[in-house]
Amino acid sequence: DDDLVVLGIETSCDDTAAAIVRGNGEILSQVVSSQADLLARYGGVAPKMAEEAHSQVIDQVVQDALDKASLTERELSAVAVTIGPGLSLCLRVGVQKARRVAGSFNLPIISVHHMEAHALVARLIEKELQFPFLALLISGGHNLLVLAHDLGHYTQLGTTIDDAIGEAFDKTAKWLGLDMRKSGGPAVEQLAQEGDAESVRFSIPMKQHKDCNFSYAGLKTQVKLAIASRNIDAKVPLSCASSLDRSSRADIAASFQRVAVLHLEERCERAVEWALKIEPSIKHLVVSGGVASNQYVRARLDQVVQKYSLQLVCPPPNLCTDNGVMIAWTGIENFRVGRYDPPPPANDPDDFM
Ligand code: KG4
Ligand code: ZN
Repeated sequence: DDDLVVLGIETSCDDTAAAIVRGNGEILSQVVSSQADLLARYGGVAPKMAEEAHSQVIDQVVQDALDKASLTERELSAVAVTIGPGLSLCLRVGVQKARRVAGSFNLPIISVHHMEAHALVARLIEKELQFPFLALLISGGHNLLVLAHDLGHYTQLGTTIDDAIGEAFDKTAKWLGLDMRKSGGPAVEQLAQEGDAESVRFSIPMKQHKDCNFSYAGLKTQVKLAIASRNIDAKVPLSCASSLDRSSRADIAASFQRVAVLHLEERCERAVEWALKIEPSIKHLVVSGGVASNQYVRARLDQVVQKYSLQLVCPPPNLCTDNGVMIAWTGIENFRVGRYDPPPPANDPDDFM
């Protein structure tokens, strides 16, 4: 089992990522090429542009992953690749690359679901993490509460009815004029540390709905209105803002973050109660996806699980945001139980399209 060596490829959104992981969980290499400058310049992901950006770097990213691991393709056991969900033009760049490598070197292919990978990478980090467990997956495009019964067997307890929390962080950062070169989330988290989280009275979404679904569109609008009513000019970057303006931006960031996370806390409490009824043996809440790299989110959710004597499992930030390690690892989990496809034809690996 430890002899397994899997290459993972991820191109579902704006990061081109590859990694090589061993069956025992050892990370041999990990490479991420981000389209952050493109994002900052155009204020979002344009599929065609993102596809081109992936195409330009995919060969180099995979080569770097092999070089850093001091391996050649011949030493791989299989190739794992994200097949969805995501932008189809972007996904295709990764799938084509995976099929070319697998076709040329006669390797099996493992199809990986991006959100399953965000959840399962927690099992690479925490070896004690057994099924069943509860998972909260929070990113730019998804907001999911899932009960993981077993590999490939999940019950969705809740999802967003409009936007995901990461989208709300990104828009808040944009409207506050924060530096978007990385992504909005970390910029809001940092500014929030200077602010008073009780100063702006945003209302908690969906209080009257006693379920595990999420909504962030209304909170986004509340933030937008709060910014407009304070006459903050987002075109003046934070670094140039007057100290008064800076502190009122910080207050909005902190108040937004507090309420955005209160919504997560409330839903997680309910989900834990539901989940314990269905699977009384659960011991862990996994929190993963880009927003899980936020320290305030982690601290607050840790309080929630402690009430139920559960353990919080949160991968390190570089495994919470999109990465190739989670794809390789989910590939390994599936490969072990025989869930993989035979090598594609070497002469025309792209003929599935
Ligand atoms: O999982 P991910 O890398 O990509 C998707 O699958 O969407 O998540 C990206 C999202 C972005 O919305 C980003 O702003 C958010 O995760 N994010 C954060 C933080 N780091 C990344 N949100 C809040 N606080 C952070 N520290
Ligand atoms: Zn993701």
